[in-house]
Amino acid sequence: MASFHDKVVYQIYPKSFYDFDGDGIGDLRGVRAKLDYLQSLGIDLIWLTPFFVSPQRDNGYDVADYCRVDPRFGTMVDVEALIDDARDRGMGIMLDMVFNHTSTAHEWFQRALAGEKKYQEYYIFRNGTPDTPPTNWVSKFGGSAWEYVPALGKWYLHLFDVTQADLNWDNPAVREELKSVIRFWKRKGVQGFRFDVVNLISKPAQFCDDTEGDGRRFYTDGPHVHAYLRELVADTGIADLVTVGEMSSTTIENCVLYSNPAERELSMCFNFHHLKIDYRGGDKWQLMPPDLEKLKRLLCRWQTEMQAQNGWNATFWCNHDQPRIVSRLGDEGVYRKRSAKMLATAIHLLRGTPYVYQGEEIGMTNAHYTSIEQYADVESRNYYRILCESGSTPAEALAVLAARSRDNGRTPMQWSDAPHAGFSTGTPWLAPSDTYRTIHVAEACADPDSILHYYKTLIALRKRLPVIAEGEIAFYGMEIPGLLGYYRTLGDDALLVLCNLTGDTLAVSLPAEQTRWQVLLDSCGDAPAIGERLTLRPYEALVLQK
Ligand code: GLC
Repeated sequence: MASFHDKVVYQIYPKSFYDFDGDGIGDLRGVRAKLDYLQSLGIDLIWLTPFFVSPQRDNGYDVADYCRVDPRFGTMVDVEALIDDARDRGMGIMLDMVFNHTSTAHEWFQRALAGEKKYQEYYIFRNGTPDTPPTNWVSKFGGSAWEYVPALGKWYLHLFDVTQADLNWDNPAVREELKSVIRFWKRKGVQGFRFDVVNLISKPAQFCDDTEGDGRRFYTDGPHVHAYLRELVADTGIADLVTVGEMSSTTIENCVLYSNPAERELSMCFNFHHLKIDYRGGDKWQLMPPDLEKLKRLLCRWQTEMQAQNGWNATFWCNHDQPRIVSRLGDEGVYRKRSAKMLATAIHLLRGTPYVYQGEEIGMTNAHYTSIEQYADVESRNYYRILCESGSTPAEALAVLAARSRDNGRTPMQWSDAPHAGFSTGTPWLAPSDTYRTIHVAEACADPDSILHYYKTLIALRKRLPVIAEGEIAFYGMEIPGLLGYYRTLGDDALLVLCNLTGDTLAVSLPAEQTRWQVLLDSCGDAPAIGERLTLRPYEALVLQK
């Protein structure tokens, strides 16, 4: 069995997890203080988003020094202590490597600006005049993907914020620098790495305008990406660690190559297609109710095709870039608990390694901010301006942010109903959601029927039943609107997972054999009578075991 098939990863956004020193910003000692909580969940790996030295323009995804800890988060001693304390509890630390770009505050970029040719070759500079960017490519955070530097008479590429300059992976010196970073952290004893937008690292040989889109088709899963990943993994000896690549707008064909063990690239991939099912016309900033049938088709396709070609998915609903899943696909009201449990079931029993994002396990909801001042995220603030400039009223733009802003996933972790959700004794850098008065860890720990306890059950089941980690997947009842159904099988063992994705009751007919299977789990607590005609209640997940 591959070492990561039965693992569960918990993602921490340190800035919002727990503030130990009371300055309003979560920190590494805060993570250490909560290790017992994480251990009690049963998770194996803790993915920490970047805590390296950074101007924090994109909350640490703008790295100015890959091997130093940003003092806001703590010290190197804190990281070492965290790695040790986690290991003592049977958990490993997974670090987030942002290798597509550095902050423009990084020494390499500063030396490039100062005219050092060696460092200019670390980035993607193009000669030009101030009025004509080298291409019409659009930054993922809005606006042109190029910035002009008058003193140099050159443009540099930034697929994200203007302070996130893309690295030139075609330069072997850059690849060597990045390998040293991996070796540095590997020596510290980390157990895994997550690679940020890693399928964007290989740019085309020629840069040309995109007459059909924003440029992504030229650099997504680019010409040398697989060779560069193989080289990085081989030369740093991380093939035995758990590695996951964040793949932006990728394809199954490429994810098979990234994650099939024979290719010696990564353990698994994140893709985001299943989370774009409520983007009108594919545009994140245009709202639309979720297309549940499309969601099912995407999950089915990615699951079965990755399986057929021995690829491996990271399965997830939430992360620090996504709105909360209960608000998005579930129900924030009477069915909050039940829908959160149903959505957890859907993800955890798929074929792949599940990721739990902080707060998901207690059913945290979106932020419900009502003014632009409450938002901190650079992408949200940019798009608010872009939406208003392109004709939306401020109220309309705010409604879009309320559904789509990345800050929805970044509000402070709700530990208790104490002031600031028990996250900090100071003023939090981002306001907690008002829901903290009722939705918090203390309440969830005390309630045996909580979402938290259901997550613990799902995680424990993965350890107990090899069919979850290793079984084959086959979809069931695709033609029934609103039903996400699938079988998992391994030898004589089998599960049938039935998720009602809707707020209505759903009639499902079962084959005679399955009516004799046992109920393993039910998101409503009590299971319905099992017969050939089955009625699933709103947002009910039912798992039958052979
Ligand atoms: C990834 C990160 C996101 C960041 C971006 C640029 O998508 O998850 O938070 O803004 O990369 O580094």
